[in-house]
Amino acid sequence: MYDSSQLMGLTPASTSLSRRPSLNQESHVANQKTLSIIKPDATAANNSGAIIARFQEEGLRIAGIRKIHMSIPEARGFYAVHAERPFYNDLVAFMTEGPCVVMVLEGDNAIARNREIMGATNPAAAAEGTLRKRFATNIERNAVHGSDSPENAAIEVAYFFRTTELF
Ligand code: CMP
Repeated sequence: MYDSSQLMGLTPASTSLSRRPSLNQESHVANQKTLSIIKPDATAANNSGAIIARFQEEGLRIAGIRKIHMSIPEARGFYAVHAERPFYNDLVAFMTEGPCVVMVLEGDNAIARNREIMGATNPAAAAEGTLRKRFATNIERNAVHGSDSPENAAIEVAYFFRTTELF
């Protein structure tokens, strides 16, 4: 469910992201919120600022932000949807190896926009100009996470932020 390469509507890599149509153009959602995580590989490489700047340049605003170091139970809970997948333990180990930046991004069609800006889960398949193409190493160390649906965005935002921490 988190494989962004399965999303439909991606336009050619030569098109700049800011000119790409939204993935769900028909269902425009104003002021939508989504959870974004800058993962331990990207914080360790000092890429947090460049990633945050990119979201802002693309018109997403930061409604909440915090730097955290996830515990193993916290990471296992966050990725519980993947508990049966063969990569689950490696994913939890990676997400707990160093700090992350967790953010709530807000904007029109924020869930789809964030996923367009991130690119495919596997950077080898990510379009030119996407964050994963630029900053990810491989499918496991892929720099950023973004919610994949309104239902999961609500769950994931609430996992890290109280409503009183969002502005
Ligand atoms: P993310 O968007 O954070 O959601 C789940 C993560 O699991 C994904 O990014 C990848 O970093 C990681 N992962 C590791 N191996 C795989 C795999 N084979 N398929 C999908 N996701 C994987």
